[in-house]
Amino acid sequence: MTNRVVINADRTLGTINRNIYGHFAEHLGRCIYEGIWVGEDSDIPNTRGIRNDVLKALQALSIPVLRWPGGCFADEYHWRDGIGARETRKRMINTHWGGVVENNHFGTHEFLMLCELLGCEPYINGNVGSGTVQEMQEWVEYMTFDGESPMASLRAENGRQEPWSVGYFGVGNENWGCGGNMRPEYYADLYRRYQTYVRNYGDNKIFRIACGANDFNYNWTEVLMREAGGYMDGLTLHYYTVPNVWAEKGSATDFEPKDWFGTLRKALVMDEIVTKHKTIMDKYDPDKRISLIVDEWGTWYDVEPGTNPGFLYQQNTMRDALVAAATFHIFHKHSDRVRMANIAQTVNVLQAVVLTEGGQMTVTPTYHVFEMFKGHHDAELLDLAHEPAPYTYDGVSIPQTSASASRGKDGSILISLCNLSHDQEAELTFELRGLAENNAPINGTLLHAESLQAHNTVEQPEQVKQSPFTAVSRQADGTVRATLPAASVAVLRIG
Ligand code: AHR
Repeated sequence: MTNRVVINADRTLGTINRNIYGHFAEHLGRCIYEGIWVGEDSDIPNTRGIRNDVLKALQALSIPVLRWPGGCFADEYHWRDGIGARETRKRMINTHWGGVVENNHFGTHEFLMLCELLGCEPYINGNVGSGTVQEMQEWVEYMTFDGESPMASLRAENGRQEPWSVGYFGVGNENWGCGGNMRPEYYADLYRRYQTYVRNYGDNKIFRIACGANDFNYNWTEVLMREAGGYMDGLTLHYYTVPNVWAEKGSATDFEPKDWFGTLRKALVMDEIVTKHKTIMDKYDPDKRISLIVDEWGTWYDVEPGTNPGFLYQQNTMRDALVAAATFHIFHKHSDRVRMANIAQTVNVLQAVVLTEGGQMTVTPTYHVFEMFKGHHDAELLDLAHEPAPYTYDGVSIPQTSASASRGKDGSILISLCNLSHDQEAELTFELRGLAENNAPINGTLLHAESLQAHNTVEQPEQVKQSPFTAVSRQADGTVRATLPAASVAVLRIG
């Protein structure tokens, strides 16, 4: 059965905020330490302590925004522990993640340097669960105050005269859980109080982000919007794709077609969740001033055998690539409200884009999706109607394909596509309406692998890689036909 796509190229639906392609890096397992930070004295080539290979790979993604330091770690993080001479910084226990020693060598200066090297915006997550209002106020002053003040002087003593520009600040993380087990009414009041002291100094304007709900907790969104909506610019949402039950999530690489189907089916639930939270937000904020920020999303499997369960290290296959691509399409569809999202997490943790082993690294299938979709950053979302064929497994159906289209600043059109089926090719026909020119060149890129379980390792880094997508042709009537292999992601650039 054919999957039919109609694109009205002369009808735009708004901008796809590039921050939807944002990232999240927590002090968790080998994400920050080893994955990003190796220190200036490391044998691994580095730029002021940040490993060059990972830096280069991330720079190629044009990451727009990076969230740090957590996650659950954020509500136990005390920023003063991470400034000053590194050898004197406090050694603490990372109680949430593996009980390992955290030496605080990667702190505020190192994170903001990383953002400068990546050319991305910092999104700092403050501590409400175990931190004080004063601590949060002083952190903002330390980073952004330009002039004479106690915190600006301390910053200068630590080697940074100029303030940084910090655009995004989160007031707590998962305060319904690891961030303090609060009720929404209590957190809403705390949020109102803490955010008062997250000040705009000089030209630095902070976008204040309140901790939002986990997946289906609509009451949290209702209470936050009702009690504190007037004090926030963004409200978060977390949703992870967990194939099975929490205790036995399933392996990242050792899975059957039923797990493949079940995972993708669960990933598509993001659409329902976002829609329902948006409906509540619309009730209190019909002008859509407040952004919905999905600042944690991605797949969550059992850790790789033999690795520390607290480190959340997992491999990444085409299944993850399809979760990423289909999720981006959902975010595009909701881009009137979803203006930032941050995949969990950048390196070595959960649905990572980069994996490292000592001094070596590889990029994952998810990395390739981020790379292939770069043309959607800040592009105009095009009106698209899609009639997908069904993908049925054990009597349950989900759409076989998913598609999204945008027009970039250079006028070219980018169409991104997924074939979710684990074993069936997808035939697609595209009607391209409203184009000034009907013969513009079409270039395609495909992400596909020999097996569903194929994944990249430092020994075999090209098991899943991009290749030219050639099964595309323009018909005499102007329609375009494409055949996508089973379990693949593709992009077509027209013009
Ligand atoms: O991303 C891993 C953890 O998942 C984060 O620390 C927390 O916010 C969430 O529960």
